[in-house]
Amino acid sequence: MNTQQIFDFRSDTVTHPTEEMLKEIVKAPLGDDVYGDDETVNLLEAKTAELMGKEGALFVPSGTMGNLIAVLAHTTPGQEVILEESCHIYLYEVAGIARIAGVQAKPIKGKDGMILAKDIEGAIRQENIHFPETGLICLENTHNMAGGVVLPLEEMRKVYELAKIKEIPLHIDGARIINAAHHLKVDVKEITQYADSVMFCLSKGLSAPIGSMLVGTKDFIKKARKLRKMLGGGMRQVGIIAAAGLVALRDHSQWMEEDHLNAKKLAFGLNLIDGVRVNLDKVHTNILMADISETGFNAYDLVNRMSEKGLLVNPRNERLIRFVTHRGINNRDVEAAIKIVKEILA
Ligand SMILES: Cc1ncc(COP(=O)(O)O)c(C=O)c1O
Repeated sequence: MNTQQIFDFRSDTVTHPTEEMLKEIVKAPLGDDVYGDDETVNLLEAKTAELMGKEGALFVPSGTMGNLIAVLAHTTPGQEVILEESCHIYLYEVAGIARIAGVQAKPIKGKDGMILAKDIEGAIRQENIHFPETGLICLENTHNMAGGVVLPLEEMRKVYELAKIKEIPLHIDGARIINAAHHLKVDVKEITQYADSVMFCLSKGLSAPIGSMLVGTKDFIKKARKLRKMLGGGMRQVGIIAAAGLVALRDHSQWMEEDHLNAKKLAFGLNLIDGVRVNLDKVHTNILMADISETGFNAYDLVNRMSEKGLLVNPRNERLIRFVTHRGINNRDVEAAIKIVKEILA
């Protein structure tokens, strides 16, 4: 029998529900949410709106659907959406915004995931018979492909002020915005104040099994609710999963601090291995990117070697490997991961 232990650093989406979540799932009052009858969902939406400092919230099955609904609600087909060139909406959402929302992406180069107001200003379309209109600006915070970095609040403020002047809505893909608030040690409203809409995931660092939330004005959420129905995301007795979301919002601080600390410990340990480089200053939250180009390995091959030893991670490209910490990873797992990488490269 194979008893090899598995250390799963692929993503914070791999967590299983906590005991408390399972208990609440069993007890949750349920109803048909398409009729607005599910008390558990209603409570989750009310609490989320309050937490995020917005008028309304909508429970959606996934982050991808939440982002797509936001783009559909803010734009009209034929418009252009400004976003950072390595953001999730552009790279990893199957071009849904092009195919379903009928908009064109305008990717611009960022620095550590942040696109600056001056660059956005240059990308906003002028009035011209040949041009599409700029319909939306999107930011991603924390920024996944930049290694879980947190966007500077001051830069976000500048972008939001520009968006207001130009009368262009601003959406944040905040899949891990609560991780960002933990890192900055601020109320999450300090971040969400610089956006018209925000999507965040319950099923990542917050450890719930399923679901994401979309927040914005009452009118935006009304529109979003109908768009969710159109996309087939109108769920019925969905309090079953919303119950876990409520526990996630209540309990996440217990493990999120540790996730961030574990990512720092892992970064430190990996950095001591010959040929592996992690920029420690950029390990803000629960994601890190290890540059392995000086080991002589290609990241895809190294990831295969790691998985043979039970260490699961995702390659970002030929030279970068992404590690993600989460509730299922403890200090010993971090030490084991460092040991496995060391052994392979010895
Ligand atoms: C930054 C970011 N946005 C959106 C998503 C999409 O979330 P989901 O997997 O729930 O569709 C992810 C998923 O990893 C993500 O990392």
